[in-house]
Amino acid sequence: MQERIKEILSEIEQFSAESKEQLEGFRIKLLSKKGDISQLFDDFKNVAPELKREVGQKLNELKNRAQEKLNLLKEKLEETGSADKVLIDLTLPGEQVNIGTRHPISIVRKRIIDIFSRIGFTLADGPEVEDDWHNFTALNFPENHPARDMQDTFFITGDFALRTHTSSVQVRVMENKQPPLRLLAPGRVYRNEAISARAHCFFHQVEGFYIDTNVSFADLKQTLLYFAKEMFGEETKIRLRPSYFPFTEPSAEMDISCNICGGKGCNVCKYSGWVEILGCGMVDPAVLDNCKIDSKKYTGFAFGMGIERITMLKYQIKDLRLFSENDIRFLNQFRSE
Ligand code: PHE
Repeated sequence: MQERIKEILSEIEQFSAESKEQLEGFRIKLLSKKGDISQLFDDFKNVAPELKREVGQKLNELKNRAQEKLNLLKEKLEETGSADKVLIDLTLPGEQVNIGTRHPISIVRKRIIDIFSRIGFTLADGPEVEDDWHNFTALNFPENHPARDMQDTFFITGDFALRTHTSSVQVRVMENKQPPLRLLAPGRVYRNEAISARAHCFFHQVEGFYIDTNVSFADLKQTLLYFAKEMFGEETKIRLRPSYFPFTEPSAEMDISCNICGGKGCNVCKYSGWVEILGCGMVDPAVLDNCKIDSKKYTGFAFGMGIERITMLKYQIKDLRLFSENDIRFLNQFRSE
């Protein structure tokens, strides 16, 4: 019996616990009802009467010692256990913080603004809810022009509609300032169209215009050539095709040599070697007069381009709807810009 007490004592001295589970195992082994120490207490009745006093004392000491050790280890574990949570394991890999990306439309809008700001264009802004005068009438739209039709325009009430183009900003600026004017007006526009891969009911345009004395078509052409080369590369060519807009005369649509195939012909340019990117022209004198700018003294050019269109060409995006679906798998691809 005495031997056994010694054994258990040294077992207690040597024991150390690294976890609560180990400690609990220790408690069960020694102090539970069927534990080693309880066993000894059971065996106590067999101890010779003359030894009972001595052995009983030792047995009690053993039990106290076991209990003390348990308490001590428990305290320690609780301390370091809570310290564990604060301790940082520097070898763990860091948590990945996802960084947002710029929207491709924002990237391209910024590029366009950068390119034109280098040749003196500054920014102008106007409302998206626009009245008939600024969106149509001042821009020389005939009363029965199809663009005023319900099919193209989201009408609000009375005189108001969602602007169908950023040309309305031209009017707003010219009404309030006299030339020289050299401005860029980026913004969102709305058209009542069925949504498909190639058309949406809202999209973005950048309007540019330059009004001064002696502004000529050659200035327009050089400005746009400069833009095309800066945007799509030095080897880019442009071509102007006659067109019609109520607010410009003459009017043109501009194509660039296909930036995908370099003009050889591919499915993006439909094997023509050219892709259309914008509308432009010399501001119609009637528009200048509508805005109280002397059309005998001043001339000007204007152009308007769809940002989605430029972005689709630049990044070879085939579906316009991707721009407004907020699909992170699409947006993440523009991480580097
Ligand atoms: N506003 C025209 C459009 O939306 C583009 C344009 C702007 C054309 C300026 C000529 C001059 O299609």
